[in-house]
Amino acid sequence: MSSVKQIGVVGGGQMGSGIAQVAAMNGIHVCLFDVDPPALSKASASVSASIARLVSKAQLSQSEGADALQRVRFTSNLEDFHQADFIIEAIVESEDIKKRLLLQLEKIAKSSAIFASNTSSISITRLAAATSRPHQVIGMHFFNPPPVMKLIEIVRCAQTSDETFAATKALSERLGKKVITSRDFSGFIVNRILMPMINEAFFALYTGVATKEDIDTGMKLGTNHPMGPLQLADFIGLDVCLSIMKVLHAGLGENKYAPCPLLVQYVDAGRLGKKQGIGVYDYRKDSRSANSSSRL
Ligand code: NAI
Repeated sequence: MSSVKQIGVVGGGQMGSGIAQVAAMNGIHVCLFDVDPPALSKASASVSASIARLVSKAQLSQSEGADALQRVRFTSNLEDFHQADFIIEAIVESEDIKKRLLLQLEKIAKSSAIFASNTSSISITRLAAATSRPHQVIGMHFFNPPPVMKLIEIVRCAQTSDETFAATKALSERLGKKVITSRDFSGFIVNRILMPMINEAFFALYTGVATKEDIDTGMKLGTNHPMGPLQLADFIGLDVCLSIMKVLHAGLGENKYAPCPLLVQYVDAGRLGKKQGIGVYDYRKDSRSANSSSRL
């Protein structure tokens, strides 16, 4: 396909708004759609604030910031995607909802448009099989937050054509990202390796090998990781880690991917990580609850 001129991004949450911002900052016109009007307003505010921050830090000039903002259009009408050359979905992580969206998009998008999914764990092959253009479906896995993280993991599913792959790679590079390519198996590359490491750190804690602080310090100073695996799990969200472990376990069928019972228990107890104020660590100011939760 010829060079992408307009992108459609579906879903204006954490990832979709960041992806739209990255595209706009790299000279590409973007249309961002969300079903939820408050989410769309939040996405607009978040892109404006993020660009303003970059301008205030002199990482973008005033005019570059203004131009980038002017390239993003926020819409509550999916029909506006009829001109998009490339559509990236970053909606809720549900296979059924993503499939329904793709069927809707098929009726609106140009026949040449490529559909990319930012899913962390759903099979791109199954998403592609739900459409009538499976060769034009691909995974484009950004990392959080997209304007900061340098990597895109491209996932070639069983049906992805060479042309679709080449167009996705070229677009990713125009966005200033480093590309790695994965075949479509559970966890792709990064989560396939990262999540079992986090799960193993939970096993070390669960079986009393060491304290959480020593496990994290060991991995920070012993392997040069910027943060320990338990702290990282809190940042990602323990519910997200658990759901990815379940995908690895089901998809790859080996017991080594079984989620650690302590991870399961924390999620059951509502200890979802930093976003909840408590996960492996306690982020709340109230030390009384810190003491009680340490016995959980
Ligand atoms: P989020 O919950 O922040 O945003 C999802 C957005 O999608 C919401 O604004 C929601 O209103 C919207 N939405 C839901 N159904 C929709 C539909 N049918 N049409 C249009 N909009 C719809 O979620 P987040 O974190 O941005 O994740 C989005 C996707 O990106 C998921 O597939 C997730 O697995 C993936 N991902 C998330 C990462 C993360 O660190 N949060 C990292 C990499 C991928």
